[in-house]
Amino acid sequence: MDDDERPGAEEVRSAAAALLEENWTGDHTVPATGLYPHQWSWDSGFIAVGLRHVAPERAQRELESLMAAQWADGRLPQIVFDLDRDDDYAPGDSFWRSRTIAGAPERPTAGLIQPPNHAWAALLVHRADPVLSRARRFLEEAYPRLVAWHGYLAARRDHRGAGLAAVVHPWESGTDNSPLWDEALAAVPDTPTWQVTRPDLGHAAAAERPGRKEYARYFWLAERYRDHGCDDTDEDHPFVMEDPCFNALWAVSELALAEIATELGRDDAPHRARAARIAAALEGLYLPELGIYGARDVVRDALVRKTTVNGLVPLVLPGLPHAAELVDTLRGPGFLCGGALLVPSYDLRAPDADTALYWRGPAWFNMNWVLVAGLREHLEGPLADSLARQVITLAVRHGFPEYVDPITGEPHGTRDFSWTAALALDLAMTESAL
Ligand code: SER
Repeated sequence: MDDDERPGAEEVRSAAAALLEENWTGDHTVPATGLYPHQWSWDSGFIAVGLRHVAPERAQRELESLMAAQWADGRLPQIVFDLDRDDDYAPGDSFWRSRTIAGAPERPTAGLIQPPNHAWAALLVHRADPVLSRARRFLEEAYPRLVAWHGYLAARRDHRGAGLAAVVHPWESGTDNSPLWDEALAAVPDTPTWQVTRPDLGHAAAAERPGRKEYARYFWLAERYRDHGCDDTDEDHPFVMEDPCFNALWAVSELALAEIATELGRDDAPHRARAARIAAALEGLYLPELGIYGARDVVRDALVRKTTVNGLVPLVLPGLPHAAELVDTLRGPGFLCGGALLVPSYDLRAPDADTALYWRGPAWFNMNWVLVAGLREHLEGPLADSLARQVITLAVRHGFPEYVDPITGEPHGTRDFSWTAALALDLAMTESAL
């Protein structure tokens, strides 16, 4: 890429800050005004990471508004609904009716969860403006909530008792239609009682979104979880998966909680011990023949042997035993060496890879941001720099798209997507990449 095609730091900053301002509702940032009109859990984590550079108080409030919707059992919900937008997204509050479920908060939310990047985000937000953070008692207030959140994962989601948290719905992975879930999802009935509506298709092309059958299964699974009171005691729940991305983010966030505990004069040892336990358990997902981490299907007691970007995310862990192999895989023919500008969500050699279809091939900005952090952790500076530059360039050039074709950079999904802006902004402000 020519240097003069590359946006300067000020251009990135002003375009990203303007979008984040536009998508701010007064107490949180919507991921996108049309496609995703509520507050999403891991989106808020990533958004706060970018916001901290331009509006540190708003970054704190972004996380605070999500934590205010915490359930009594500690879970942070996948979505906090804006009741004024209930018809604009499905399934919404009329489906979940969370206030009728024991332990749900005052604010209407989904019953599911999303990947736990929040403690990591909270630590970065604190460090951006420690004076403001201390004055607002940001970490003091956040710490017990984050401890309860991680406690929920350990107590309610470790279905095998092996140290990893399981997701019980593809939406909980944040990577909805990843090929990792295909086999397990195929066994889920596609006959929900609720009538499936697709407001999403008014905002993104059908060929770039999960299909009709997948949606029917998503609704069936959500309905089953809801009708069991979202209480995690349904022993016959048909979809229980250990995702390497979800668990690697949990481990990194547990390490961040250790740092937060130290900042607050508390004991960091329990957090370091849990992070080590998660990291050790993650090794059970490693696939040596593929040089990547897979997922475990807990119901079938089987490893899913597919090369997806989820399996590269453990690179963020310090001291990862297979870091060198992951870097080789990332540089290899399935990912960057397939000629990609950014790391794709799925091995480009797979016969069913589709570079426009949501989590089945396109490159996502949050995953590439996480991989930049992982490459830095393992001293792969030049590769981290070039990836960071691509994130910034493609984000700004295409108006902050949701995802892009990894080979051509062509934008897909919605535009004006908040985490794309936030994470490009973060890289522009923190990297020596420009
Ligand atoms: N990614 C989901 C959707 O597309 C929500 O978490 O609606």
